[in-house]
Amino acid sequence: MNRKTEDLDWSNLPFGYVKTDFNIRYFYRNGKWDEGELFSDENISIHMAAPCIHYGQEAFEGMKAFETKVGRVVVFRPEENARRLQKTCERIFIPEISEKMFLEAVKRVVSANKKFVPPYGTGASLYIRPLVIGVGPKVGLGPAEEYIFLIFVTPVGPYYKGGLSPVNALIVTDFDRAAPHGVGDCKVGGNYAAGLAGAQYGKKKGYPVVLHLDPKENNYIDEFSTSNFIAIKDNTYITPSSESILKSITNDSLSIIAEQKGMTVEKRNVEVKELSGFDEVGAVGTAAVVTPVNLIHYNGTDYTFGNGEEAGPVIKSLYNELTGIQKGDVEDRNNWLFEI
Ligand code: COI
Repeated sequence: MNRKTEDLDWSNLPFGYVKTDFNIRYFYRNGKWDEGELFSDENISIHMAAPCIHYGQEAFEGMKAFETKVGRVVVFRPEENARRLQKTCERIFIPEISEKMFLEAVKRVVSANKKFVPPYGTGASLYIRPLVIGVGPKVGLGPAEEYIFLIFVTPVGPYYKGGLSPVNALIVTDFDRAAPHGVGDCKVGGNYAAGLAGAQYGKKKGYPVVLHLDPKENNYIDEFSTSNFIAIKDNTYITPSSESILKSITNDSLSIIAEQKGMTVEKRNVEVKELSGFDEVGAVGTAAVVTPVNLIHYNGTDYTFGNGEEAGPVIKSLYNELTGIQKGDVEDRNNWLFEI
């Protein structure tokens, strides 16, 4: 690939922002989306009375593009992100973005920034961040009349330092990220703002990751502030079923891989007291990929999983299979790779 970005230290990239050449923007005016255009400006100019900045009428997504050994550039399951964004948009009254428009936008913006797709084997990827915001002046509460759908891309390394090295987590019960019947199952920025207090509290106490319980009873495991919760017990893959968690595409993919490996998959309420019986725990999401969690602190007790030093064997094998498919090293038998 013809790269002019040799100065990037691909294997040591943080999960941060690196300027790329283009972002793509579509504008919704007079009841319809336009054809979209590539921009090199990193700034957006919006009216100070735009509903996205006052009332949080915004939605976003996260995906990754990879280079395979033979130089293909592929995006992992973007159709699922398109569907999830549609669900979020419907919930907060943003006009529908069709799957066709979404996939076309992904293709155009990744193609225009191909030289920023990290080389095969570096462990890095091109993070794709779509967002849609309600713009135009509106002071009374109500959906905006105009919208911007934008996608930027940026090369990233692992979200949690060390990739597959285990992290410690803290259950925070004083700060919920979602409300019962709220928007916890939608990818809106407000959920992440609501999670900041718990995350900062956890960091101060020495825990890079925090875990939320269900907001109604505080009895069931919901999700981590940035990712879904999975647990392994014997030959079973367990993940919470809850109205207030985001449906993770990584979690869905891992559960399919687990099933195909002959494991039993249970999507059900997971009581916090079950922590003492799990063999392995992981935090899973697009950014986090599969981050092993070897200790969870709750109410004065440390629940530990594995040997505390490295990922357990099942999480390791699920991680290898998922990342192998994404890099094109493992057969893509579920047809998950979208060619750019
Ligand atoms: C992702 O995993 O793609 C997310 O959007 C989570 C975010 C905190 C980076």
